[in-house]
Amino acid sequence: MCGIVGYIGDKSAAPFLLDGLTKLEYRGYDSAGIAVYGDGNIFIEKAVGRLNALKEKLKGRMPEGVVGIGHTRWATHGRPSDRNAHPHTDCHGNFIVVHNGIIENYMALKEELLAKGHNFTSETDTEVAAHLMEDLYDGDFAGTVCKVLKRIEGSYSLVFMSKDHPEELICAKQDNPLVVGLGEGENFIASDIPAIINKTRSTYILNDGEVAIVKKDSITITDREGKPVNKKIFNVSWNAEAAEKGGYEHFMLKEIHEQPKAIRDTMRGFIKQIRPSKNNHAERIASDGSSIVFPELKWDPEFLRNIDKVYIVACGTAYHAGLVGKFYIEKLARMLVEVDLASEFRYRDPIIDNKTLTIFISQSGETSDTLAAMKESKRLGAKTLAITNVIGSSLAREADQVLYTIAGPEIAVASTKAYTTQLILMFMLALYMAQLRKTVNEDRTRELISLLKKIPAQISETLTDVDPIKTFARSYGFNEHVFYIGRSLDYCVALEGALKLKEISYIHAEAYAAGELKHGTLALIVEGVPVIALATQKSVYDKTISNIKEVKARDAVVIGIAAAGDTELEKYIDHVMYVPDTDELLIPLLTVVPLQLLAYYAAITRGCDVDKPRNLAKSVTVE
Ligand code: AGP
Repeated sequence: MCGIVGYIGDKSAAPFLLDGLTKLEYRGYDSAGIAVYGDGNIFIEKAVGRLNALKEKLKGRMPEGVVGIGHTRWATHGRPSDRNAHPHTDCHGNFIVVHNGIIENYMALKEELLAKGHNFTSETDTEVAAHLMEDLYDGDFAGTVCKVLKRIEGSYSLVFMSKDHPEELICAKQDNPLVVGLGEGENFIASDIPAIINKTRSTYILNDGEVAIVKKDSITITDREGKPVNKKIFNVSWNAEAAEKGGYEHFMLKEIHEQPKAIRDTMRGFIKQIRPSKNNHAERIASDGSSIVFPELKWDPEFLRNIDKVYIVACGTAYHAGLVGKFYIEKLARMLVEVDLASEFRYRDPIIDNKTLTIFISQSGETSDTLAAMKESKRLGAKTLAITNVIGSSLAREADQVLYTIAGPEIAVASTKAYTTQLILMFMLALYMAQLRKTVNEDRTRELISLLKKIPAQISETLTDVDPIKTFARSYGFNEHVFYIGRSLDYCVALEGALKLKEISYIHAEAYAAGELKHGTLALIVEGVPVIALATQKSVYDKTISNIKEVKARDAVVIGIAAAGDTELEKYIDHVMYVPDTDELLIPLLTVVPLQLLAYYAAITRGCDVDKPRNLAKSVTVE
């Protein structure tokens, strides 16, 4: 997500801030800015685009002060622009703030502050923190920060600077990383260790709920009540390159492990406890439970109720997410859904009218085929909804409506956290449509939302023991052919698992609907061929077992993926990997994780370039 840096000491702050932000460029961003205190004033400069645009603006006017903060923005609220870039200030420029995360209740806070006469200059959620400082300030800088933290809900790493307290910077951490670097007569702040690793390796890694009062010759850590917290110094042993990956060997592994947080961030704001209301059906659903709401969707609910056809259009992994989305929308909202590869959709003269909804899924929002397919859809008169991970991307700008995955920058070419957050958005969208169309009752809605909330923790559980997967990768990583089989949603996930293996380990992997093997592919199943069998879909479990028996009868080596508690599958196959049990609609979010890891460790076994596989690009911006 966003990058944060801070400096307080005796040297000029600006050079460190710019160098630190440069070290954070790998995280991806769309704008940047710095604020420096000097001679009683605060100098602020910001620029949309690359850091060079900011450096260009600073040419010949570099600020001299010895206290400062800086930020690279990965937009979540408000498109990329100079005025939405951080740092942000209160009405009078007395309080300056940079932020990484999401302030979930920012709209309510903004309305409250506007009613008190505050003037806002940006569309961001972050700016409310600066105005809250102004509103609650009682002379105690750190104490006021603690009061502000009690008002905001959501995820944040925040750094505050004040014109009236130039001797200190105040940091606060909740759900997003923040590190304080210990220097000699100077101290450093960063969202990530790479920004400070060439200055110091002695750090305090802040934990959730902690506040740091950073002066040039002291650092005090407290909780949000101001109670001191004892911190151990963490000495960083990583080299700079490893630090960029948060200590993981590759971006792909880091991003696989970021999935619980990415899913939490993507769900934020869409699950509401709603009181009964006379005029809004979605509100009546949750008389005493929760409900899915999509404040960002500006379509009249009547339009969504009357759609009679949905196309989901995408490429690669996003297409595989669309296949799962089809199940969700058809199962929950009882709407007819067709899923199409963008490169096919755009040339097949699809049947579209004003009651057709076309959904385009794209992590980058820049995939040429997907963009062209959306243009064709608009030409034919369909409403267009984009699901993308990049605010301000071409797809986001050209779609009628946009829903964002909040996965943060995905650096590895192989898409992982983008896929699972796309599934989450598709699931919530399907449930929302089901609420509007009354095709799912209140109890089922409540049950599904309750299970949905458990997914991040269940993914974390799935990530705790990867040794069996490493063993499989080492044992079978040198095979040249691997088959993935499954039925229903297991088949959709099998397709994604096969793509992961193909694209980073270069093993020829194919996924088949398990019931389809006997229609030809079974001819390829010979002794020793590895077959990954997904068997989590209870509604077709017995049929899947029959298909597993088919391949076992040809002496394939079968590695199964089953839901925890399944004691049957192991009787028929060679190895079983278990994922936590949940509703069969949601279990694809868990089943895909061992397949991502299997592909990762197989690529390692074969010495492949995991993050940058041959012939591939992260975003295919050409036909
Ligand atoms: C995914 O692992 C691949 N790198 C690729 O299939 C990717 O999903 C596809 O190119 C679509 O990209 P997009 O989501 O940015 O549109």
